[in-house]
Amino acid sequence: MIFNRAMLARAVLAAALCASAGGVAAQGKIKVGFMLPYTGTYAALGTAIENGFRLYVQEQGGKLGGRELEYFKVDDESEPSKAVDNINKLIKRDNVDVVVGTVHSGVVMAMAKVAKDTNTLLVVPNAGAEAVTGPMCAPNIFRSSFSNWQPGYAMGKVAGERGARKVATITWKYAAGDESVEGFKEGLKASGGEVVKDLTLPFPNVEFQALLTEIAATKPDAVYAFFAGGGAVKFVKDYAAAGLNKAIPLYGPGFLTDGTLEAQGAAAQGMLTTLHYADGLDVPKDKAFRADFNKAYKTTPDVYAVQGYDAAQMLGAGLAAVNGDVGRRGELVAAIEKARIDSPRGAFTLSKAHNPVQDIYLRKVVGTENRYEGVAVKALADPAKGCGM
Ligand code: BEZ
Repeated sequence: MIFNRAMLARAVLAAALCASAGGVAAQGKIKVGFMLPYTGTYAALGTAIENGFRLYVQEQGGKLGGRELEYFKVDDESEPSKAVDNINKLIKRDNVDVVVGTVHSGVVMAMAKVAKDTNTLLVVPNAGAEAVTGPMCAPNIFRSSFSNWQPGYAMGKVAGERGARKVATITWKYAAGDESVEGFKEGLKASGGEVVKDLTLPFPNVEFQALLTEIAATKPDAVYAFFAGGGAVKFVKDYAAAGLNKAIPLYGPGFLTDGTLEAQGAAAQGMLTTLHYADGLDVPKDKAFRADFNKAYKTTPDVYAVQGYDAAQMLGAGLAAVNGDVGRRGELVAAIEKARIDSPRGAFTLSKAHNPVQDIYLRKVVGTENRYEGVAVKALADPAKGCGM
């Protein structure tokens, strides 16, 4: 057959249209790597994060930025020494486009270093390590949760305002506990109190007895504790079993009572904590989210589920701006940076360091709820010390 000019032009046009329309389809599914704890004291937190993430994607018809998602999973066991190998399984073996992880601050610091070195897109759905949105901040690293300083600072402020002058702290000895306590001290000092004793034990140890005896001997006005997951359940129960909850108020960042109240039962009643989520928020998005989450998983969502859901929302905002083309990294990052995330916690934006600027709520345990009591600190931004972005 002899091609004339018109036929040739039509063939060229058809080929071009095919290439551009097929561009996104030709890229196949977006590969998402979950690096989360699925075993150990933080196992329930990892599952809640994954469930929240998947729920948002399901609500979008299984696609973000017009592309379907394919999931890869690694159990990080909340073990920092395995973190580099684990994230490399996702990046090098599975070739993921984005890593979503993790819960533990020690693990996330190793992940952030690898993500930075390999320019892998990383969305952190919990771990509050300040370095990640501080000295290690980077265009390819985002957090959908909090910095350890944020709820700690708010609780310190509230404790001081409620008359606590001499306070004891207790935590696992690692970045999350240390930074949470530092934030608490700053807030407490600003409202007239001081910390008179710091107690620690190694993560994830739950032999609290000797330390509880020391608290009883110190007789502080209040105790501030950072624990989460299985460790939080045991600590709150042991504190009550020792009779301390009758004499010395136990405060904490909301991790101490979030996702744990069924197991803590009577021991947690009346406790005050601060967090960027609460039960009974007057937020329409939260009402819809809770109904959908309940339908999908037959359980009430906690803060970890919200952070997973919002990690997916953030990624979705970036992918929508580039029609699913992860290669357009600059535009993808810019879109997440300027997004207003319609979160169940209440809408939030991201700081320059890519950490949520958010209200921190005061909550009170009533039955199996961390009931909203009010806003402890409005639109709190992490100071992002050392971030050069
Ligand atoms: C952390 O390691 O950053 C962390 C773990 C559980 C709850 C909150 C923070």
